[in-house]
This record gives sequence, structure tokens and C-alpha cells, in this order.
Amino acid sequence: MRWGRPGAGAAGTAPPLPRTDVELREVTHAYGDRTVLTGVSLTLTESRIGVIGANGSGKSTFARLLNGLVVPTAGTVLVDGLDTRTQAREVRRRVGFVFQDPDAQIVHPTVAEDVAFGLTNQGVPAGEIARRVDEVLVAYGLDGHRDHPAHLLSGGQKQLLAIAGVLVMAPQRVVFDEPTTLLDLRNTRRVARVVDGLEQDVVVVTHHLELLAGFDRVLVFEDGRVAADGTPAETVPWYVARCG
Ligand SMILES: Nc1ncnc2c1ncn2[C@@H]1O[C@H](COP(=O)(O)OP(=O)(O)OP(=O)(O)O)[C@@H](O)[C@H]1O
Ligand SMILES: [Mg+2]
Repeated sequence: MRWGRPGAGAAGTAPPLPRTDVELREVTHAYGDRTVLTGVSLTLTESRIGVIGANGSGKSTFARLLNGLVVPTAGTVLVDGLDTRTQAREVRRRVGFVFQDPDAQIVHPTVAEDVAFGLTNQGVPAGEIARRVDEVLVAYGLDGHRDHPAHLLSGGQKQLLAIAGVLVMAPQRVVFDEPTTLLDLRNTRRVARVVDGLEQDVVVVTHHLELLAGFDRVLVFEDGRVAADGTPAETVPWYVARCG
């Protein structure tokens, strides 16, 4: 399976999205006096980028740096040249973030209201909000649930809702931090297919190594550094051997 980059939007009408390049320059991050990322310099331009590594190796911290949820203690993160430290709002329009636990992302009582939330916040006109919300609910199989309480959805549906809430904002790159970890096999495959079909560029942090088979590039984190960087064929067997 190739995680390609189709040219059209979910409804088949949108023009192709521009690419979003992310550059990390000598990035170090510490929580208090604990340094968890050290001297990471990378340029991310590929459409499908995976991130793997042991628990606590710094993957989530790295992922959160990419859209300014975390700002580096030292060094710089640039998204299309925009500094995440000073231009976070513009950065977040370009780079969306899907959390591992969708409950962390669901803030409104009903499915449709939850998806509309970000657009309302941006002051998008009501008619356009209704159109865009309808479009993503249909695309992610949630249109039958639009007035249902979001917290009563199944785990897989909640993750799809969280993804819909990010995609409705039309970001150019989406960062997923373990989007399938809480899901059963069926929903894991469902979310994998959704990610597969996205026109957006993606960065996927995961322990499900098989999801990365068709990716362009995989980064392996070890103790807050990038220990390996290459194609899945180069990096995944290396990582598996290290874990053995
Ligand atoms: N908010 C925080 N405050 C203090 N320490 C933190 C915080 N978030 C993460 N850490 C620490 O930073 C280190 C890296 O954490 P991070 O969440 O980036 O790892 P990870 O690779 O995503 O791990 P996992 O695979 O378990 O999700 C860990 O030792 C963790 O305990
Ligand atoms: Mg993590």
C-alpha cells in the first residue's frame, strides 16, 4: 500500500494543497531541568513521514514542536519560514495536530458542533461552516451522527471525529501522535485508510510499524536524538533489530 498524495480534496472539488515544509535547526527541548530532545536538525519536505522509537524517546515532544504546541528551549522550528515561537497562529493554520486520545480533542456536545468549533473560532461565515462541516462528516462516515453526543461515540468514531475536526480547518500538513494506539484492529485499519487517502502531507508517530510500509521517510528516535533516518526499508528493520 502506497500512502500517496491524491490531488483533489475530500469532496473532489478543492484545488491541490500547497506543500508545507518544516525545518528544525539545532532544536533542544527540556521540561524543567530534564532535557528530552538534543540538537535535532532536520528538514521535513516529504509527504509521508513516520516517527518511531521507544517510550520516552521524545517522539511526542518532537511532534508537538512541529505546530508550536511545544516551543523549543533552544534552537528554532520554522514552518514555511514561519517561526513557531512567534508566529504560532499562522503555523497552526498550516499544520494540524491529532492527539492519541480523541477525548482530549473533543470539546463540544454534539458531533457537528465539535467539527464546527475551529471554524467558528476563526470567524468563518455560518453558511460556509455548514458546507464544510457537512463535507467532512460525509467524508469520514459521521453524517449519520451529526446531532449525537460526541462523548457517546465509539473509540474509532471519536478518533475519526478528531481527525474531521482538524481536517475541516484545511491544514496543509497533519501531525498524528499515535492515532491508532487506542483502537481495535478494525478501527486501526479504518483510520489507516483515512490517513492513506489524505491529500495533506502527514507526520505519523506510531508503534504500529506496519502502517509505515509505503512511507517516504521514517525517523527513529532514541534518547532524544534522531538515531536513524531513511526509507522504511532502511529504518524499520534497523529499529526492530535494536529492540530485539
Ligand atoms: N509535560 C512534561 N513534563 C515533564 N516531562 C515530560 C513532559 N512530557 C514529556 N515528558 C518527558 O519527556 C520524555 C519524552 O517524552 P515524550 O512524550 O516526548 O516521549 P515519547 O517518545 O512520545 O514516548 P511514548 O512512546 O511513551 O509516547 C519522557 O521522559 C517524558 O517523561
Ligand atoms: Mg508519545
